[in-house]
Amino acid sequence: MKKTILITGGAGFIGSHVVRLFVNKYPDYQIINLDALTYAGNLENLSDVDKAPNYTFVKADIRDADAMDEVFSKYGITGVCHLAAESHVDRSIAEPMAFITTNIVGTVNLLNAARKYWNGDFEGKRFYHISTDEVYGSLGAEGFFYETTPYDPKSPYSSSKASSDHLVRAYCHTYGLPVVITNCSNNYGPNQFPEKLIPLAINNIKNMKPIPVYGKGENIRDWLYVVDHARAIDLVYHEGKTGETYNIGGHNELKNLDLIHILCEIMDQKLGRTPGTSASLITFVKDRAGHDLRYAIDATKIQKELGWTPSLQFKEGFEKTVDWYLDHEEWMNRITSGKYQAYYEQQYERR
Ligand code: NAD
Ligand code: DAU
Repeated sequence: MKKTILITGGAGFIGSHVVRLFVNKYPDYQIINLDALTYAGNLENLSDVDKAPNYTFVKADIRDADAMDEVFSKYGITGVCHLAAESHVDRSIAEPMAFITTNIVGTVNLLNAARKYWNGDFEGKRFYHISTDEVYGSLGAEGFFYETTPYDPKSPYSSSKASSDHLVRAYCHTYGLPVVITNCSNNYGPNQFPEKLIPLAINNIKNMKPIPVYGKGENIRDWLYVVDHARAIDLVYHEGKTGETYNIGGHNELKNLDLIHILCEIMDQKLGRTPGTSASLITFVKDRAGHDLRYAIDATKIQKELGWTPSLQFKEGFEKTVDWYLDHEEWMNRITSGKYQAYYEQQYERR
């Protein structure tokens, strides 16, 4: 059977890396990139693959149920990698509703479209839902998130992702839909929208602007290079067991403040600045409401069952990432003009 894979959110950060990998690695598949092109979607991220004969872009909103039905039947979708989402925690705190409609209702629209179109014939079909480690809540100084850790989401974003995970599992249990889910830790790398910590910090350091660190900078995240996440998604899409969940993580836990100091050192070197120049920009600002203290993934299952491990550790990954942003000044300038300014002002000027 010919494979036609619907990748939702393919114009976003992680989605664009997944689209690139699938288009290049599987010339016999048709790859349909469906994206609403919200503020976070950027087709420029895919300029190197968008002429490929096995690639089609569809501008559509997953909140539109009829449009989802139409896409399934028009393109003959045999599999889904679902990444489209509202993804930024701070925005979910400021305005939760878009997170409910896109992350929950949008996911159900896709589940319904798959269910209707596949109509009980699940041979060779797959519905892969890409989720986050934030559904497990917040850890203290010790311990890890396992696939069996009970859900305990704390922000509107993580709650909306947790709801969508539950619904995906319910469609597997109730209707037999062949689903698989992964819960991944914090990604970093090229093409990330500069509302997220790492590209925001790199951009501010470059422009000698204050680096906003929430609270005391003691919160801990587990960082994974985005290309390693895309490799894991490829593996799980093809070899993950139906109905299963796999945790994906980087084995790279860092306190935010330590991470920022590492970035500052790299930037001082790359920009030929006197050591300490970039670190002088560190500015402690009001903490995020309900800020989760620590995330840490135990990724033993995907390692043992599917043989996946991250290929990069943070030192090398951060160097590559800084190089990419310094080499793509125009990409950053285009994104940070216009509406981004208004967002930045609202989010940071009054902190
Ligand atoms: P992103 O915000 O960079 O991209 C999201 C994409 O979805 C954008 O292209 C946007 O235009 C599109 N989109 C948003 N609403 C849509 C709608 N209603 N209809 C169609 N398209 C819509 O996000 P990201 O960081 O690449 O995250 C992708 C997925 O991975 C999300 O589901 C997120 O929850 C998950 N995830 C992200 C991380 C991370 O560290 N970034 C970690 C684990 C899991
Ligand atoms: O864990 C996976 C999640 O990682 C994904 O599901 C989310 O989509 C993704 O946005 C990310 O969430 P975080 O909230 O962890 O990422 P963010 O880059 O927003 O923040 C990382 C840490 O840095 C967090 O502790 C908050 C802090 N922070 C963030 C910003 C934007 C700051 O100190 N200053 C900032 O300006």
